[in-house]
Amino acid sequence: MAKAKTIYECSTCGEQVPKWVGRCGGCGNWNTLVESVIGGGAPGLGAAPVEKHVANHRPAVPLAELDERACVLFPTGVVEFDRVLGGGLVAGSITLVGGEPGVGKSTLLTQVTASWAAQHSSALLVSAEESPQQVSGRFARLGLAGNGVHVGGDCNINGVLADIAELRPGLAIIDSIQTVFDPDSSSAPGSVAQVRQCAHRLAIAAREYNCAVVLVGHVTKDGSLAGPRVLEHLVDSVLSFDGEREVGLRVLRALKHRFGATGELGVFEMTGSGLVTVDDPSGRMLGDRQTDAAGSAVAVTIEGRRAVVLEVQGLLIGSEIPNPRRSATGFDQKRMAMLLAVMQKQLGLSFAKHDAYLSVVGGLKIGEPGSDVAVCAALTSSLRDIAIPDDIIAIGEVGLAGELRSVAGLELRLAEAARLGFRRAVIPATDQDIDAPLEIIGAPNLFLALAQLGLRQSTQVQSAA
Ligand code: TYD
Ligand code: MG
Repeated sequence: MAKAKTIYECSTCGEQVPKWVGRCGGCGNWNTLVESVIGGGAPGLGAAPVEKHVANHRPAVPLAELDERACVLFPTGVVEFDRVLGGGLVAGSITLVGGEPGVGKSTLLTQVTASWAAQHSSALLVSAEESPQQVSGRFARLGLAGNGVHVGGDCNINGVLADIAELRPGLAIIDSIQTVFDPDSSSAPGSVAQVRQCAHRLAIAAREYNCAVVLVGHVTKDGSLAGPRVLEHLVDSVLSFDGEREVGLRVLRALKHRFGATGELGVFEMTGSGLVTVDDPSGRMLGDRQTDAAGSAVAVTIEGRRAVVLEVQGLLIGSEIPNPRRSATGFDQKRMAMLLAVMQKQLGLSFAKHDAYLSVVGGLKIGEPGSDVAVCAALTSSLRDIAIPDDIIAIGEVGLAGELRSVAGLELRLAEAARLGFRRAVIPATDQDIDAPLEIIGAPNLFLALAQLGLRQSTQVQSAA
C-alpha cells in the first residue's frame, strides 16, 4: 500500500505542490494552497488489492448488445431547465450546477425537485448547507407541496449514499458538494480532495442506482468554478447559473453536456415566489431602452437555437490617465479592444484619449461575433454623440480589415428582430439577397454599415471630448 504523504493542493484549480507557497503556480491565486494527505490507501482511489477489483468486475459487453434507448431523458417539468438539458435529466447521470452564492441555485433546484417528485418517482434533496426546517420553509415560501420529496440533512457522504441506497430516488440533489465530506479522507472539508472524492463516490452511486444526481457548486466572483472546476471532467454535464444577485434576469446555460448540444439558454426571473420563466427575453431586454440616446445600439445574438435581441451600450469619455480604461460587461474585453483598433485603423477614429465602456444590458453575455457591428455602432454613436434611429438593428462580424462577414443563424435573428417591431436591418452585403420580414440593407464593410445607421460624419481623427 502506498505510504501516506502530505502535499499542498490549490483549492481553486487543484494544482498540487510538495511545499507550501503563498501563490499557486497553476492559477496565480494567493493563499489558496491547503494541506492535503494523499496515498495511505484512501478508499476508492486505486488502493484496493487486485482481488477486490476482480470480485467487483463487470465484464465488457459487445457494443451491438448495448441498447442506446437505455439512455432515457426524464423531463423535470421546469421547462427552461429541461430546455438547457435538451429535454431533461438522464437516469444514472451526474450534473453539476454552478453559480455564485445568492444567484438562486437552491431555489431553482427546490423547484426542480418538487416538479420531478410530482411527476416521476421520489426525489431526495440533501441540504448539507441548510437545516431540514429551512428547506421545508423554502418549499412553503414557493408554494410547493413537495409530495414524494425526502430531505436529507447529513453532511457525511456515507449518510448521503445510505439514503440513496435505501430510498432509491430517481433524482438526488446535493446542495452543495462543497459542504459534504468523506470522513475517510484525511483532507479538510471543502478542500479540492474532499470535493473530488465525494463527487466520485456520488457518480458511482448514480450509475449503480440509476439515479440522476445533481450537484450544486459555488462559484467565485471571477467566474471560476472554485473547487468544482476539478469536477468538470468527472460529471456528465456542467450547467452555469448566472445573473446579478439583486436585479435582472438569471440565465442558465450548459457548459458541457454529454447527452446533447450545449448553447441552449434558459432565462428566469427571481420573484417573491421563486424563479419564473421569462418567455420573451428579447422583449424584456429591450424593455427599458431609451430610444433617442447616443451610445445605444441593438444587436441580435444567437444562444442555442434561439435568437435574442438586446441593447448594447457604449460610453466614450475623455480620459484623465495615460492608459485609458477599457471595460466591458457581458462582452469579451479583448474583442472590444480589437474592434476599437479596427475602427481606429479603418475609419480613422481615435480612441487613444478616451476611456471606453461597453455594457450588454440585462445581464446577458454575448459570446459570438454576430454583434460586432452593433458594438462598433454603440461606441461610435457615443463618440460622435449621435443617436441611432430606433427602428434599425445591425448584424455582422467585423474582420480585421473592417469588412463585414456573414454570421450563423441570420434568418432566425432577422425574424426575431421583426417580431419585436424593428423595420430595418443592416447586414453583411454577401447576405443581402436573403428573404426577410424586414427591410434589408447590405453593407460590405464597417464604414458603410455605420453610415447606414446614421453615424456618418467626417472620418477625421476625433479629438478628446
Ligand atoms: P438561493 O436560492 O438560496 O441562492 P443560492 O442557493 O444560489 O445561494 O436564493 C437566492 C436569493 O433569492 C436569496 O437572496 C433570496 C431570494 N429569493 C427570492 O427572491 N424569492 C424566493 O422565492 C426565494 C426562495 C428566494
Ligand atoms: Mg443555496
